[in-house]
Amino acid sequence: MIETIRWSDEGVVMIDQRKLPREETYVVCRNYREVAEAIRTMVIRGAPAIGVAAAMGVALGMLEADSRDPDSAFEEVTRTLAATRPTAVNLFWALERMREVYRQVRGQPLELVRKRLVEEAERVKQEDIETNRAIGRNGAPLVPDGKIVLTHCNAGALATAGYGTALGVIRAAIEAGKRIEVFACETRPFLQGARLTAWELLRESIPTTLITDNMAGHFLSSGRVGCVVVGADRIAANGDVANKIGTYTLAVLSHENGVPFYVAAPISTLDLSLASGDEIPIEQRPAEEVTHVFGVRVAPEGVRVENPAFDVTPHRYVTAIVTERGVARAPYAESLRRLAGGLYGREKQ
Ligand code: MRU
Repeated sequence: MIETIRWSDEGVVMIDQRKLPREETYVVCRNYREVAEAIRTMVIRGAPAIGVAAAMGVALGMLEADSRDPDSAFEEVTRTLAATRPTAVNLFWALERMREVYRQVRGQPLELVRKRLVEEAERVKQEDIETNRAIGRNGAPLVPDGKIVLTHCNAGALATAGYGTALGVIRAAIEAGKRIEVFACETRPFLQGARLTAWELLRESIPTTLITDNMAGHFLSSGRVGCVVVGADRIAANGDVANKIGTYTLAVLSHENGVPFYVAAPISTLDLSLASGDEIPIEQRPAEEVTHVFGVRVAPEGVRVENPAFDVTPHRYVTAIVTERGVARAPYAESLRRLAGGLYGREKQ
């Protein structure tokens, strides 16, 4: 399995997702600022993977903390990590989880505090892999046999600590013996589908076809697509889903063509403090991602650009939300709350 991120004696090691698939190289973040920069510049990306990186960033930050004032160090480290990317709630969930541990051990010898934080960060990683396997088990029965599964962006091993959410459902369906072909949307402008999903699936010889984003309607109306499965960055209490820009378009097209539209995400992606998707902060990314392709300008100088990294799919287009605790269906306000049960972090605030 691809190892997206790991803790090591040298620091936090991440596969550099900006360079895939041309180069398989690793970045070593030796302090929390480098972890924050890696999240911001998308060395690591994908909601659950960002959460693991943030947890490890906190642990790394506290290894450098001044023993005379660990509380201030903790605040500075978490503030820096929280300011990296606004949409994926897993980042804030992970910081809250680390804060909970810090509260428990605060005031004890700093060596012990550090040990507990490192252990917790590693636990966040390990649990994410187990969570994804459970999402896969719960989602596999929904995938029709012998059909195309269409996905967007990368919600795979690279977007998580391993196995993936949407791609976890696909992996689990294949492990269960289903004959599936994956259609991966290229996902402009950052090309997570073309660069990452295609790379990840081909490594495992999963039949994969790459399409540009604007081909999706054509294929969804062809009768060949059995379902769409995507991940999520944040899900509001009413079931509205923020995910990679272009997801909303796919959801509407799926609805129009009678194709089930599934969202696969861990409970840590739920943000039940938000009543609807209108309240989800949408990250705006640099104009160069749109005007340039791999450093080459493709648009005229001076053109105005908008580059929202995510959109919100209204819950009415979502057939089901697959989590590690089960499958939620409408009305989501009830089903998600039931599944969330003892949710960590934001729910408690
Ligand atoms: O900008 P990115 O690459 O971090 O966006 C990633 C996505 O939108 C994924 O679909 C989402 O985080 C789910 S990953 C399991």
